[in-house]
Amino acid sequence: MVLSVLLLLFSLVFLLSNPTWVCGNGELRALMDMKASLDPESLYLPSWSINGDPCDGSFEGIACNEKGQVANVSLQGKGLLGKLSPAIAGLKHLTGLYLHYNSLYGEIPREIGNLTELVDLYLNVNNLSGEIPREIASMENLQVLQLCYNQLTGSIPTQLGALEKLRVVALQSNNLTGAIPASLGDLGMLVRLDLSSNNLFGSIPTSLADALSLKVLDVHNNTLSGNVPPALKRLDDGFLYEYNLGLCGVGFSSLKACNASDRVNPSRPEPYGAATRDIPETANVKLPCRGTQCLNSSKSSQSTSVTAGIFVVIIALCAIGVWTFAIYRRRKQKLGDSFHISDSHLNTDEAIGAYRKNGSPLVSLEYSTGWDPLADSRNFNGYNQDIFQSLRFNLEEVESATQYFSELNLLGKSSFSATYRGVLRDGSVVAVKSISKTSCKSDEAEFMKGLHMLTSLRNDNVVRLRGFCCSRGRGECFLIYDFVPNGNLSRFLDVKVGGGEVLEWSTRVSIVKGIAKGMAYLHAYKANKPVLVHQNISADKVLIDQRYNPLLADSGMYKLLTNDIVFSALKGSAAKGYLAPEYATTGRFAETSDVYAFGVLLFQILSGKHEITSSIRLAAESSKYQEFMDPNLHGRYFEYEAAKLAKIALLCSHESPFERPSMDAIVQELGNCSSCL
Ligand SMILES: *[C@@H]1O[C@H](CO)[C@@H](O)[C@H](O)[C@H]1NC(C)=O
Ligand SMILES: *[C@@H]1O[C@H](CO)[C@@H](O)[C@H](O)[C@H]1NC(C)=O
Ligand SMILES: *[C@@H]1O[C@H](CO)[C@@H](O)[C@H](O)[C@H]1NC(C)=O
Ligand SMILES: *[C@@H]1O[C@H](CO)[C@@H](O)[C@H](O)[C@H]1NC(C)=O
Ligand SMILES: *[C@@H]1O[C@H](CO)[C@@H](O)[C@H](O)[C@H]1NC(C)=O
Ligand SMILES: *[C@@H]1O[C@H](CO)[C@@H](O)[C@H](O)[C@H]1NC(C)=O
Ligand SMILES: *[C@@H]1O[C@H](CO)[C@@H](O)[C@H](O)[C@H]1NC(C)=O
Repeated sequence: MVLSVLLLLFSLVFLLSNPTWVCGNGELRALMDMKASLDPESLYLPSWSINGDPCDGSFEGIACNEKGQVANVSLQGKGLLGKLSPAIAGLKHLTGLYLHYNSLYGEIPREIGNLTELVDLYLNVNNLSGEIPREIASMENLQVLQLCYNQLTGSIPTQLGALEKLRVVALQSNNLTGAIPASLGDLGMLVRLDLSSNNLFGSIPTSLADALSLKVLDVHNNTLSGNVPPALKRLDDGFLYEYNLGLCGVGFSSLKACNASDRVNPSRPEPYGAATRDIPETANVKLPCRGTQCLNSSKSSQSTSVTAGIFVVIIALCAIGVWTFAIYRRRKQKLGDSFHISDSHLNTDEAIGAYRKNGSPLVSLEYSTGWDPLADSRNFNGYNQDIFQSLRFNLEEVESATQYFSELNLLGKSSFSATYRGVLRDGSVVAVKSISKTSCKSDEAEFMKGLHMLTSLRNDNVVRLRGFCCSRGRGECFLIYDFVPNGNLSRFLDVKVGGGEVLEWSTRVSIVKGIAKGMAYLHAYKANKPVLVHQNISADKVLIDQRYNPLLADSGMYKLLTNDIVFSALKGSAAKGYLAPEYATTGRFAETSDVYAFGVLLFQILSGKHEITSSIRLAAESSKYQEFMDPNLHGRYFEYEAAKLAKIALLCSHESPFERPSMDAIVQELGNCSSCL
């Protein structure tokens, strides 16, 4: 009793001392509520104060419109570790909410639907979970919906199809399930739809081809199945569908033609021949409404909803069956990580084969039984014994090749390895990289998997790993590579005018092409080769042979090394400017991060300099590449090619990974370059 009176008094005093509060500034109150949940420790938003004015410029990240209403909240990449409060609904005039690249968790409040003036919603790269609120359907001004890289679950709300102004929908890398709503095909302004790396199933709705402005449709890495609508061919490279086990279709490279068994697939119950009518059409059907914001589906009429309803039930049952099976199979496959990515790309038969191949015999090998994985011919049921054995060197051979690791043969050292030149008995020259045991992955099975993968790489622009040798006695593992005589690309950068060797223009162009080809090979998924990200592209890792052909060194080395070592290598790349900006915020290193490094490398090759300053980028942006071309070239280059390469460099090193082209696309682009060699 006494307590409550005290509380009452206290709040009265508090209210009186805060004029704005008394005046009931709803937006300020909403902001303070948001602050309390976005930044519970009050570490990042001290400038948001109950006594302040959000519109006088003192509130970090707040911008107001001319009427003094909060229009934008821009707090991207601020390290916020908190939740998004339902109080957000109080910012009624918000047009932009930019909270990407933080560590926000919890659900997206359904009250967000009240922000009917919102144009941009950026909540990507956080840790948000739960479902995408259906209420989002009332945000009729929404143009950009960025929710990618979170932990969102549930299905994609069909109601999104009602948001006519949507231009970009990015939901990739979540944990979304269900079908792709056919209603998305109604979005006439939609340019980019990215649903990749989720658990979506069913087939790709034919209606998506009706979205007239659509340029990019990325659905790769889901569990989609069925016939791919032929009309999507118009998107060319903008349509990405890889890594979906069950997709089939005609006219798409890498898709098998659909056959009768695809048609009787339980998840596709339509009669034979009705290949263009696919289940997600049913996603048009109204889902049970939650909350007040149910929209009438634009196409459904009473009778179709009933039949469609029955349809949905049947399909849902089938889909659950398929899904359960998929999950079951996935669990079974989940052994270590190195091959996991690749496994999920294989088709069913291959995947089961791969499971057996990389299966338990290795997992049961204990590290403690001896680090020397190959010392005795233990039974590696997994790998092709003959090939693996033929790649195995013995220590004696390595010692004699390098003259007992003579300093004279030392080619280079890094924090975790030393590389020696050596000559094998057959006279061939090799580079022997020694890595200490403590830097190698402690899990033997993982190490072996990595090794197996690296020995399988074969490309003209990737240094060949000829073999390996692990010595318990020395506590080291040795990787034996072909020797590449002309050093690395670094040695051709920052050459003083009139000083060292200068690469001619045509050589530079061919080096760029070679690097791109090598990287495209690593990134490609082939029957016996999983996708491999290099992770350490730099001028130092591009070796140059006697014919000035470039070869990528240390591809996929991280497969063998401990996380600490990998991390410190990444820090090294960052120091040299090669590390893609998103790594800092997402901690993810993907093919697109390699592409970024390639962009930086390309600038280096054009400018002949290690350091790529912002002025170089600015010049490239305004197509003034002449300003940064290597003076050592004395103007001897083809302007057309230089302009093109500068443009590619700029695109590859784009801030946003989503804007960067794939290495495949780059190889093609370089190939089109008529006068390029
Ligand atoms: C809000 O952000 C958008 C996008 O950056 C910008 O165009 C707009 O001018 C901003 N509004 C205000 C009031 O600052
Ligand atoms: C996301 O949340 C999980 C647990 O829910 C946590 O382990 C992880 O560290 C979080 N990630 C980030 C980037 O905050
Ligand atoms: C959101 O909108 C609904 C309906 O328009 C309204 O009843 C509700 O009070 C609003 N919520 C907030 C927090 O403003
Ligand atoms: C995704 O969802 C599945 C089941 O729906 C669950 O088993 C899995 O752990 C989820 N993954 C993540 C990363 O949340
Ligand atoms: C596929 O998705 C999983 C998570 O769902 C992700 O870890 C993996 O990197 C993705 N693979 C590709 C090739 O996008
Ligand atoms: C049809 O598909 C099944 C399973 O996907 C496959 O085993 C079979 O070889 C295919 N037949 C043809 C003619 O492609
Ligand atoms: C939904 O449709 C029905 C009949 O078609 C109509 O009576 C009702 O008003 C509609 N509701 C909304 C929210 O548009």
